[in-house]
Amino acid sequence: MTEFKLNGKVVKTSAPDDTPLLWIIRDEFKLKGTKFGCGIAMCGACTVHLNGNAIRSCSYPVSLVNNAEITTIEGLNNEHPVQQAWVEEQVPQCGYCQSGQIMQAVSLLDMNPSPSDEDIANHMNSNLCRCMAYRRIQKAVRRASNKLVVQNHVPDSSRKEEA
Ligand code: FES
Ligand code: FES
Repeated sequence: MTEFKLNGKVVKTSAPDDTPLLWIIRDEFKLKGTKFGCGIAMCGACTVHLNGNAIRSCSYPVSLVNNAEITTIEGLNNEHPVQQAWVEEQVPQCGYCQSGQIMQAVSLLDMNPSPSDEDIANHMNSNLCRCMAYRRIQKAVRRASNKLVVQNHVPDSSRKEEA
């Protein structure tokens, strides 16, 4: 038995220890926003947060999340500044990769609300988009960062690229 918090609610699963977390999220708890892409931790479509850090749920055994906090795209409630920036920049094309992209971006801004362009590129690098929305993704992360800087009065001294 594995017990963990899923978007703030305590849940339990009796799935075998090596079951990928993604299967539990999608099939057992019916949260379909997290996507299956490659299944081998290479594309980022299945990205969720484990205690605030981005992980690839397709390759993460459920037993390793015992007593942890898991957040999926549904846990952001369509209210996060990153989600608002995604809409404002009209990022998605087919949309398949986008929940993973957003979760990856949120983990970056949680760690570093004022990332440089290089920080954004490095952090988002392993989230693939077959529609090549990378430029819009970068602009949306920048827009969300600007909102967070204003909201939280975060120093933006890391933004050398924009000088
Ligand atoms: S489906 Fe998990 S990284 Fe591709
Ligand atoms: S928007 Fe289509 S895969 Fe990224």
